[in-house]
Parts: sequence; C-alpha cells; structure tokens
Amino acid sequence: AGNRKFIVGGNWKMNGNKASINGIIQFLHEGELDPSTEVVVAPPAVYLDYVRSNLDKKIGVAAQNCYKVEKGAFTGDISPAMIKNVECDWVILGHSERRHVFGESDQLIGEKVKHALESGLKVIACVGEKLDEREAGLTEEVVFRQTKAIADNVSDWDKVVIAYEPVWAIGTGKTATPDQAQEVHARLRQWLSENVSPAVASSVRIQYGGSVNAKNCRELAEKEDVDGFLVGGASLKPEFVTIVNARK
Ligand code: G3P
Repeated sequence: AGNRKFIVGGNWKMNGNKASINGIIQFLHEGELDPSTEVVVAPPAVYLDYVRSNLDKKIGVAAQNCYKVEKGAFTGDISPAMIKNVECDWVILGHSERRHVFGESDQLIGEKVKHALESGLKVIACVGEKLDEREAGLTEEVVFRQTKAIADNVSDWDKVVIAYEPVWAIGTGKTATPDQAQEVHARLRQWLSENVSPAVASSVRIQYGGSVNAKNCRELAEKEDVDGFLVGGASLKPEFVTIVNARK
C-alpha cells in the first residue's frame, strides 16, 4: 500500500540440505516473480554462501540471526561482517523463536539491530505477541515495547523492515485474519508516527508473518498497511512463488 515496495521474505528456519536447497533455487528461478515485489530468502547460516553463490542476484539473501559484535570469542555465533563477507545483505533479528526458544531479550535484540545496521546490513526486525498476551489484551503493549527496543537502535530506517508475527500464528496453521493483521499494522504505524516520525511511519514496510500460504496471501496483501510477508513453512515449497505474487 502507499508507494511502499511489497517485500516477501522466506525464512527457512532450521530446514534444508543442499539437495532440497537446489530444489528451492530451481523453483525461484523458474517461477515468474513479480518484479515489483522485493524477495529475500533466509537460509540457515551454513548455507548462506552456497545460496548467495547460486541464486539470481535479484533475490536478496538474509541470515536468520547474528551477534552484536564483529568478531571474538563467541563460540557458535556469526557476525554481520561475516554475512557481508559472503555477499549477503540482510539479517532477520528478534524472530519469535530467538526470543522464546533461545531467550533473547529486547535489550539484546536492540544491540544486535544497532550493530547490524552499523555494519551495513539491512534488517528485518520481528515483533509479535504470544497467545496469552493477546488474550490478556496486551497485544499493543507488547508490540510497542518490542518495537521501541528496536527503534531506539535504528540509525537509518531505509534499511529496516518490521515483521509483525503474532506468535500464536507461527507454524500453527492459524493465520491472523486480514483484519487482525491490519489492525496491529495500523497501530504500529501510528506508534512509529508518534515516536519516530510521520515520514518514517509512512515509508517503513511492515510485513505480516504467521502461517501465510498460497490460499490466504491475497486477502492479507490487500490490506492497506500490510507491505509484504515473512513466510516460514510455505517458503520451502513452490507455493512461495504464489505468495511473492500476492499483489500481481
Ligand atoms: O518468520 C516466519 C515465521 O515465523 C512464520 O512461520 O511457518 O507460520 O509461516 P510459518
């Protein structure tokens, strides 16, 4: 909506191997991707170099996470400098699985956002409430708190996409209705207008994530404040092409 460029991300999470990744690259190359949609895929870290080397450059490649410093004694982690070194431009930060499976705090996610941007990466920053939070009427409080921890660390909003992923909709097959997604996206944009600036609020892209598939993507994509998707399970399958083309 507006003149924001639609952006669809495929978050492969901890899935795939070289054989299945070759299959994904093939359907991405063979599918007719809407040229007015920006497409970014996020393979597991060990495959970033392989995917970047084999995928058409018009498709962006993102890491699914990274740490908050350039290098050092941080066993098991990767840095923005490494992601850039293998010619990838993006990183997903603050995904709900990082928050809730791996215990990442708002504070840590903020620090990661800051360092990733300073290192020249573009960031897909994720926010979203859990089911009990929604049921307790805390959706906005949670989403605004998470967004503030990110916003306080953003130097250049042109490099940031926000993904709203209600935790109860992730991997559950229980998608937010288009109205539920639109409601939070609009409130988030209003929060950005009041707490960052009206210009940022109108230009920043807000993706919806949570059980997006080929069947429900069109209705969601029609909503004024839904500027794309962050897709999990369906991004591993050829139906991802249909989701990329949701506005076509
Ligand atoms: O980041 C994408 C995500 O968490 C949604 O996953 O499998 O519900 O599309 P899924």
